[in-house]
Amino acid sequence: MKKILCIGAGYVGGPTMAVIADKCPQYTVTVVDINEKRIAAWNSDDLPIYEPGLDEVVKRCRGKNLFYSTDVAKGIKEADIIFVSVNTPTKTFGAGAGRAADLQYLEKTARSIIEHADSDKIVVEKSTLPVRTAQAMSRILHSNTRGLKFQIISNPEFLAEGTAINDLMDPDRVLIGGLETEEGKKAINEIVEIYANWVPRERIITTNLWSSELTKLVSNALLAQRVSSVNSISALCEKTEANINEVTAAAGRDTRIGAKFLKASIGFGGSCFKKDILNLVYLCGYYGLPEVAEYWEQVIKMNEFQSRRFVGNMLAAMFNTVADKKIAILGFAFKADTGDTRESPAISVCRQLLEERARLRIHDPKALENAQLDLEDAAGDITYCEDPYEAVKGAHAIAVMTDWKCFKELDFKRIYESMEKPAFLFDGRNLLDVDEMYGIGFNVYPIGKKAKTHF
Ligand code: UDX
Ligand code: UDX
Repeated sequence: MKKILCIGAGYVGGPTMAVIADKCPQYTVTVVDINEKRIAAWNSDDLPIYEPGLDEVVKRCRGKNLFYSTDVAKGIKEADIIFVSVNTPTKTFGAGAGRAADLQYLEKTARSIIEHADSDKIVVEKSTLPVRTAQAMSRILHSNTRGLKFQIISNPEFLAEGTAINDLMDPDRVLIGGLETEEGKKAINEIVEIYANWVPRERIITTNLWSSELTKLVSNALLAQRVSSVNSISALCEKTEANINEVTAAAGRDTRIGAKFLKASIGFGGSCFKKDILNLVYLCGYYGLPEVAEYWEQVIKMNEFQSRRFVGNMLAAMFNTVADKKIAILGFAFKADTGDTRESPAISVCRQLLEERARLRIHDPKALENAQLDLEDAAGDITYCEDPYEAVKGAHAIAVMTDWKCFKELDFKRIYESMEKPAFLFDGRNLLDVDEMYGIGFNVYPIGKKAKTHF
């Protein structure tokens, strides 16, 4: 039985390995992490991340061919194939601070592999990394003094949170990059064989190492760029009475443009988009391409502009002051169906509102715990509410930050009755029906559409 190890039991490593174990009963899959609490949670009934469908997959395989452990050394010793899925955040110190990827955890992992390995292994980069990281990985791994040989493979993960299990079970593509040598090709094939257990061969793409590493950064940059492009146009729509939904629906009908990922919003969040674009910007600068760096940096600037613009609109609508006003924040996660709040636009909106001395009542069905951590150091009046009706009671305004479907099912008549008047509704996700909400009595401010007000 072949043994797969994954180092890093996070949002990427955890679900990915669960699906590999589920689809490949002939492999033993072990996921290790230095975080004991996280591993304990993976071994409990209360998994450390919320992801629709994940519980079922883990329950099917755990204890059979799927194991979660903190014993990194044993895991490394026994494994034939090691996936590395540790975090690679943006550097906060020294050269490249605020842009470059912080590769210290990756390097520590490589050193830990050579410390504990006693046979040749395939090491798979699952984490998103700067292009050419595999070269550094290879040098560190081959600095071992026992003559051990390692093949480095790049196999970036494209899953999106909230749909991770579906994305893993039925991916658009699986990308596997390796060296174009005999050993490199052999290693690529080993990884292809894993995915071929459930992914049709034509969807498994093999490339050289550098293309694979770069494709992950480029895919995220292109997706984020679409959101920023649409959001930039949403600002123009609000000035001209064009409707962003109509514009994107009509533009997206062109098959060359495509209909997906064109939803105007308060801005993109999540652990990847900003980090990966910053990484791309840094790389372009490093390779002497300042114009290319500047081009991509604009995607982030536009995203920041969108949340500033949203708060500006709130202030302008509410008579230029929110001081001492209660504002209900509906949703804190960076998107629906996840408890993840990393880089959520709600963080920046809440901080701006707190600076304006607003009193915040925050509700989210899955992300309240994370919200509290994100705003731990923020001064001001904040209450976290399990019950959405408690959050809106006595509020002057509601700000919708996350596109949770359950918000659509709330009793907005009851909500309106319980609020201060005039009642304002700022819909940062275009989630609610403008006419219906206006009919109830709200003054409604969607994104990229004319506001509908009673005055
Ligand atoms: C992260 C990156 O954000 C993403 O770019 C990359 O593609 C994969 O890794 P994610 O799984 O969301 O994605 O990160 P996170 O949830 O932070 O998980 C990383 C895990 O690695 C953590 O549980 C951490 O404890 C663990 N880790 C980190 C180790 O086990 N060893 C280390 O040395 C460092
Ligand atoms: C993203 C990529 O989609 C995935 O392939 C990669 O592996 C990791 O990064 P994720 O961050 O989980 O996944 O979520 P995604 O669905 O891409 O959404 C990112 C952000 O963009 C969210 O805040 C979302 O609300 C926002 N978004 C998305 C929009 O504002 N409009 C859209 O049309 C789509």
